[in-house]
Amino acid sequence: MRLGVLVSGRGSNLAAVLEARIPGIEPVLVVSNRPGVPALEVAARHDVPAIVLRRADHADAGARDRAIGEALTSARVDVALLAGYDQVLRDGYFDAFAGRTINIHPSLLPAHGGAGMVGLAVHRSVLEAGDPETGVTIHEVTRDLDGGPVLAQARVTVEAGDDPGSLAARVLREEHRLLVETLRELAATRS
Ligand code: GRF
Repeated sequence: MRLGVLVSGRGSNLAAVLEARIPGIEPVLVVSNRPGVPALEVAARHDVPAIVLRRADHADAGARDRAIGEALTSARVDVALLAGYDQVLRDGYFDAFAGRTINIHPSLLPAHGGAGMVGLAVHRSVLEAGDPETGVTIHEVTRDLDGGPVLAQARVTVEAGDDPGSLAARVLREEHRLLVETLRELAATRS
């Protein structure tokens, strides 16, 4: 299974996937929408080719998203993973890339998903709602934001005294675990 990974920042989920060396998974391309981010160093450390496709270098965001899809298609990517990719993919992406796209989101979708639900905002929203638990969702990406079919979820208990940062850190550990497990299953199912 040829894997492409879309990133925008820290790259800890990318690192978890690359470090796991999952049988049957060949990471072939990392695409970032932002230059100079740590995720690009993660790719370099693991000798995975990486490109930066900035909005500013394209006529508009739709054209950039089409370019991302085209890059994945020419790298013969089977599955594209959004691992901390921080923008909504527009139609051009889906027109240019016919493979599967999956996303990891740090909550139990459909709760705390949708527009603006990125980074610490997700965990702040969980704490404000007084939810006793939160978690991780891995889902198919469709044109419906955070609304594609769920592939896997893991639960994380909200503890007394949690703040958005402490909750994010605990959820992130589960993200890394569930992501590797889910990719392992996807690769096994394909072979
Ligand atoms: C993760 O919490 C992921 O669920 C969300 O963005 C964050 C990315 O973190 N979509 P990292 O770049 O993988 O460290």
